Amino acid sequence: MAIKDLHEHPFDEGTITKLEIFESYAKEWLPTFVMSCPNKELWIFDFFSGPGRDVIGVAGSPIRLLQQVKEQSGNIFNQKCKIHLCLNEYEKSKYDAMHSCCEDFIKDEKELTRLNNHYLFLHYCNCDFAELFPKTISIIAAHPSLVFFDQNGMKFLADKYLLDLEKLSQTDFLYFLSSSYFVRFGKTRAFQTNLSIDISKIRENPYKYVHKSILEQLKCRLPEYSDLKLYPFTIKKGANIYGIIFGAKHPRAVDKFLKTAWDKNNINGEANFDIDDDLGKVQLSLFDGKLPNKIERFQNELQEKLIQGVLQTNKDVYDFTLECGHVSAHASDKIKQMKKEGLINYSERSPLVNYEQVYKKNRIITFQIIKK
Ligand SMILES: C[S@@+](CC[C@H](N)C(=O)[O-])C[C@H]1O[C@@H](n2cnc3c(N)ncnc32)[C@H](O)[C@@H]1O
Repeated sequence: MAIKDLHEHPFDEGTITKLEIFESYAKEWLPTFVMSCPNKELWIFDFFSGPGRDVIGVAGSPIRLLQQVKEQSGNIFNQKCKIHLCLNEYEKSKYDAMHSCCEDFIKDEKELTRLNNHYLFLHYCNCDFAELFPKTISIIAAHPSLVFFDQNGMKFLADKYLLDLEKLSQTDFLYFLSSSYFVRFGKTRAFQTNLSIDISKIRENPYKYVHKSILEQLKCRLPEYSDLKLYPFTIKKGANIYGIIFGAKHPRAVDKFLKTAWDKNNINGEANFDIDDDLGKVQLSLFDGKLPNKIERFQNELQEKLIQGVLQTNKDVYDFTLECGHVSAHASDKIKQMKKEGLINYSERSPLVNYEQVYKKNRIITFQIIKK
């Protein structure tokens, strides 16, 4: 199966979307840990780094990571954090290009030059991921870590990797997946030995949902009581469907990923296109009455669960919001509206449905149902 080498051409729109999501997440992750872990080591792994830039000089993942380290240089100095950046690329020519591209970038950016070898440590590797990963897993496990798996295809999402990641408690990861290759090649032995996915189940849904369907099957492979949460972001490029899978155990990490995803697409927060035809639903409302869009469907379900008493506190609501792949604002807006309509009441000025109030300050309030 031939997979196009994305470094032979300028990055296309889908690749840029992927890289922007990776970078936006790193932008959220770095200050969170730098500020909360003074004097500690933080590790970032980019296991499939590529050459550093595309053929017209647009930054790839390693340069974007360095850019984010640069943005945080003041905080890194103040907090005395040690940032370790492990950049791996298997193909020798790309590895060489990546190495000199990163070194040039560090030389040109005075904040990075000052950090380098004191608070910033670059670990360049020219290895096959399959060999490198088992050697790094103990480091990933021992420190707060952010891991990018920007692979070609999908084979490094096999159980042996995913289930290792499942065991870690302070690791956030982003996988890239060529999801539509499953539909085309998933029955071949090469695919099935790497990752056994039930193609017939995937085919039960429209093609555009292939990435989400794969994710649903991956979730079933996790141990029954796993705290690991997985979220999809589907990327359509021409006729092909790709996607990101985000994984983390901590609600703060999930919260930050969902904000990144909804910032990318405020219609559905899970694709670079209108995957559920929500825009069509607005059109339809002019003629046939209103069909609820994704946010409204979530808000309707939230209202029902509050009225039925299934969700009672701001923590219940916040956890449910993340579970459904939404951001706090979608829940808060609905609860405020319910208060205005006299359906619900609460003791504080706002519903306190956010990470800060629920998990950091532990401020838990119970919603009183006034009208059923
Ligand atoms: C999708 S590209 C990554 C793009 C990169 N993140 C960027 O921003 O340019 C996948 C990269 O992984 C490399 N690669 C392929 N197989 C690999 C393996 N087994 N181990 C490590 N790198 C590999 C490829 O040469 C390619 O550069």
